[in-house]
Amino acid sequence: MKLEGERVTLGVTGGIAAYKAAELVRLGIKAGLKVRVIMTPNATRFVTPLTFQTLSQAQVRVDTFEAVVPDRVEHVALAQETDLLVIAPATANILAKMARGIADDLLSTFYLAYDGTTLVAPAMNTQMYLHPATQENLEILRKRGVVVLEPPEGELACGDYGPGRFPEPLHILERILDLLYQKDLYGKTFLVTAGPTREYLDAVRFISNPSSGKMGFAIAQEARRRGARVYLVSGPTHLEPPWGVEYIPVTSAVEMYQRVMDLYSSVDVVIKAAAVADFRPKPLTEEGAKFKKEGKEQFFLELEANPDILATLGENKGHQILVGFAAESQDLLENASAKLARKNLDMIVANEVTVGFATDTNRVVIVKRDGTFRHLPLMSKEAIAEAILDEVAGLFQGARSR
Ligand code: PMT
Repeated sequence: MKLEGERVTLGVTGGIAAYKAAELVRLGIKAGLKVRVIMTPNATRFVTPLTFQTLSQAQVRVDTFEAVVPDRVEHVALAQETDLLVIAPATANILAKMARGIADDLLSTFYLAYDGTTLVAPAMNTQMYLHPATQENLEILRKRGVVVLEPPEGELACGDYGPGRFPEPLHILERILDLLYQKDLYGKTFLVTAGPTREYLDAVRFISNPSSGKMGFAIAQEARRRGARVYLVSGPTHLEPPWGVEYIPVTSAVEMYQRVMDLYSSVDVVIKAAAVADFRPKPLTEEGAKFKKEGKEQFFLELEANPDILATLGENKGHQILVGFAAESQDLLENASAKLARKNLDMIVANEVTVGFATDTNRVVIVKRDGTFRHLPLMSKEAIAEAILDEVAGLFQGARSR
């Protein structure tokens, strides 16, 4: 679901993590948000407003009484122009002011004038964070509906170890996008598969393919942002699972088959972006042992067929929407359409083998059961995920209106 320039006001308060908020602004702008920064006077002692102004391409506000536009009440006007307020880093001081309604600078005054969703990322010394006063203030804010990001544990700038660290800017961005997205898939449960499978010959050697998992992870992330509950069953990848999805790592096709079958009856949609090995070698050794090459000029691998997971789901199709992928080296549409029919799918996403594996972009054709096609140009896997889920949302709408 596209964000159309949603307006985020980022409050930066006076803690050492203020410098990390600069990265958050950069990531937010890259994700298509309009970010405007309000700094407290203390925050400007850590980072200059110019840093945020350059990254956000917008004037940074610090002073309550500075008239940016003549005759306009700045904190009220700003509050009306904001879709989401994020305070990161949030010091113990701003949390206390928010909890008690103290308005003695532009940011705290803004907070009282604003009635939308607020996200805070507390970051401070561990003792300050654990102090009953701070914990009580956080409880008051939570009860009021403020979303509080728990600070991760770790080594702090002051040398202490414990909770109070500033979360990774990418994690904060993920929560921001999650709050801004329209929840058109709320109430639905998705099962997404991703990545390659590994089929071991002995303790260390395996047959696999170059799937990175990026396509499946992008779909899982998009579904989660749009409000769905998401299970992500993935073969080995280097990717971090998206925030909020239930991640189930697997290794082989047989293991993927078992996990998928366990979940099948409890989901509404299955999207199979994984590149599953069709065959596995019969083991060359006892379990845990390494095959010895000594004395052998050549040897033969005997392969046996893996279960076709998607075809099994198709044979047992109930209310679930089934979406497959097809990586083809020739006759893309004919082969993909044949797979759709053979595996009893609602939709199949066809891509050329030379384009889609292990890249950030892909060029696909979405083929539907009714025989219609939607050709998409080369685009990011995130944008493709969005298009696929628009089609799935369309199927739900179609089912409702029938
Ligand atoms: O992971 P990335 O690097 O982002 O790359 C993405 C991708 C290229 C892997 C992805 O876009 C893709 O095309 N995935 C499917 C590739 C594939 O193996 O297609 P297939 O034609 O072999 O299989 C057709 C469908 O049946 C797929 O949905 C597959 O998950 C499923 N299948 C296949 C074999 C099997 N034993 N069980 C299955 O469920």
